[in-house]
Amino acid sequence: MAWSARQALMLKEMGLRVDVRAEVQAVVGAQAEAQSSQAATPRSTRPEATPRPTAAPSAAAEKSAPTLVQTPVQIHAPRRVGVDAIAAMDWSELRSAIASCTACKLSQGRTHTVFGVGHPNAHWMVVGEAPGEQEDAQGEPFVGKSGQLLDNMLRALGLSRDFSQGDAQGDAQADPSKCVYIANSVKCRPPGNRNPAPDELAECEPFLIRQVALVKPKIILAMGRFAVQSLLRSSDPIGKLRGRVHQYEGVPLIVTYHPAYLLRNLEEKARAWDDLCLAAQTYAELAAVVTSS
Ligand code: URA
Repeated sequence: MAWSARQALMLKEMGLRVDVRAEVQAVVGAQAEAQSSQAATPRSTRPEATPRPTAAPSAAAEKSAPTLVQTPVQIHAPRRVGVDAIAAMDWSELRSAIASCTACKLSQGRTHTVFGVGHPNAHWMVVGEAPGEQEDAQGEPFVGKSGQLLDNMLRALGLSRDFSQGDAQGDAQADPSKCVYIANSVKCRPPGNRNPAPDELAECEPFLIRQVALVKPKIILAMGRFAVQSLLRSSDPIGKLRGRVHQYEGVPLIVTYHPAYLLRNLEEKARAWDDLCLAAQTYAELAAVVTSS
């Protein structure tokens, strides 16, 4: 794409005029339509709120309740089910397993687990880092400022996390080629929005792997270094990994900057836009191969 055209698209996206779909959709749209639609899928746009596990009072404390101050008992068993069990779960089992997971210390501070959102068979999958304050409060990924930027970026590609039209029929008719499934590498909020620790990423990884396996995306956008660490097992900086097509389990994967980073480093938005264009082009090429075969 010539710089001027690309820049125009980018500026519109950055300027919050998001009706810039035409040019990119010309690349994405026609071939994507030709992709076979997936079967009707269950509604799952809004994850159910997962209440924080409450501590059970001990038997001794119960007996002498009037005089003793009860000490909360942290429940640690079961920490989480095994990797093989997770790998065999369906959507609802996976949702329950995440909701009840206490495998790492992040479970102690969460308000909600943040499962994921979007069409369960979306062609596009976005993998982010970890919930922030608002995501923890609402139980949905990317609902804060970086989520707004992410939604604008996706909208510029003609994509959306929302596939529900408000009724079951709408969901059944949703076109997975226009839909995104969004998941985080870590499902509980790290306190103070600190980076997830290696053990926290490791404990959550089987959940993310299962989400990818269930969605079966045609293309993955890995946003930020923790998504890259989980999916590509690389600790190289984003600047070194972006600009080319990687593979995750046979699925093309594009590395790009995390939206929160882009909000702090506006000058990198042009590169992020290039990454989205690379993803759109990669997806269109895939769709063209499927159509012609
Ligand atoms: N950043 C992420 O990576 N994920 C969220 O859900 C919110 C902010």
